[in-house]
Amino acid sequence: MRKPTFDMSIFAERRKKVGQEITGGALVVSAHPEHIRNHDVHHPYRQDSNLFYLTGWEEPESILILRPGMNPESVMFVRRRDPERETWDGFRYGPEGCEREFKIDKAYPIDEFTKVAPQLLKEVDRVYYRLYKNKELDEQMAGILQTVKQMSGRTGYGLLSIHDADTLLGEQRLIKSEYELTQMREACEISAQGHLAAMRFTRPGVTERQVQGVLAHHFYMKGSAREGYHPIVASGNAATTLHYNFNDQVCKDGDLLLIDAGAEYNYYTGDITRTFPVSGKFTDEQARVYEAVLKVQKAILDYVKPGIVFKDLHDMGTSLLTDAMLDLGLLSGRKDDLIQALAQKKYYPHGIGHWLGMDVHDAGLYYKKNEPRPLEANMCFTVEPGLYIPADDSSAPAKYRGIGIRIEDNIRVTSSGCENMTSSVPKEIADLEKVVGKA
Ligand code: GLY
Ligand code: MN
Ligand code: MN
Repeated sequence: MRKPTFDMSIFAERRKKVGQEITGGALVVSAHPEHIRNHDVHHPYRQDSNLFYLTGWEEPESILILRPGMNPESVMFVRRRDPERETWDGFRYGPEGCEREFKIDKAYPIDEFTKVAPQLLKEVDRVYYRLYKNKELDEQMAGILQTVKQMSGRTGYGLLSIHDADTLLGEQRLIKSEYELTQMREACEISAQGHLAAMRFTRPGVTERQVQGVLAHHFYMKGSAREGYHPIVASGNAATTLHYNFNDQVCKDGDLLLIDAGAEYNYYTGDITRTFPVSGKFTDEQARVYEAVLKVQKAILDYVKPGIVFKDLHDMGTSLLTDAMLDLGLLSGRKDDLIQALAQKKYYPHGIGHWLGMDVHDAGLYYKKNEPRPLEANMCFTVEPGLYIPADDSSAPAKYRGIGIRIEDNIRVTSSGCENMTSSVPKEIADLEKVVGKA
């Protein structure tokens, strides 16, 4: 008999908190769809972050209905136990195990969803549900809402209104609790130590795939369930391709290596990028571009504090990196005109960062009703400026061609500034040169 590895009071607490936001309504959250199976080969399943956030439940084909203040309050629909399937696919808790081990008030088999759900929703006045995540469920929900409408007849509410569950849960997930911060810091530290191991391992002749293996080995050895996303291990000019993911080249003397990788720990993920020379020694040109990016990253980290808005960080990144491009001779002209024409996007095509948490691009709004929202304590995000100068860019000074650099840390907003949760992985040139290749 399996037992859950998480403390169920964490999830009960979260349900209570979200329940306070939606009195009178009901929340419906479904599992992540199962992965497509390729010739009967199974890929690892990861639960939908919102469903896990509220239940700790990790099985597919499951739905939570939360009805704050009603009885039963938490209801789940889950797969029935099935001895034959379980010998192939592994243990299932079934409705009984769901109630007993996950402290859910009432659980039904998933095949009873459309029959039971109308009964559960007939006395609520609105439904929080994420449309367009699961087409089949959308259709079932439409049918269920129609049934509820018919059941209540002329005295009822009519068709219940649907509010976006992702927005609701995103707001709660955006501000991390102490428990979440403990998981985040651990995910960040495992990620950081993995990067350090990768740096120590790197030298001319190793392959990008071997470096990827060193990262993964470290992550799993330290209790990570999986990588937070497919890692980028990009040497030389490949680093100028933002989403390079072949990771199949040999790392060569004279090239830089850009690694963007993060470990997932207890459903929270790190997201770190470091760039360093394969040989352990920066060339003057590489060092110049690197220092320019590092200076921007530090300036932004210094600027973070509650009350400023995320958009200011984006604008600051754009402004400072455009200065760097002018300084390096990548662009010429008036800075404001260049930014107006988006000329800086040629060498810095992405944003300065994103919320970080259970998902690498985590839930939560950046704007509220078109207004950029101020930062608050315990929001977590990345700061990741970069410059990418493709080898075939004939308009860039020849000495900088083929250099791609990004430096990415994971931070938490504190009451007066920020905590860098990934500071244990070096980023100063002198520190990198001491570590790279020193296995
Ligand atoms: N690793 C994904 C990102 O940096 O956004
Ligand atoms: Mn990243
Ligand atoms: Mn990132």
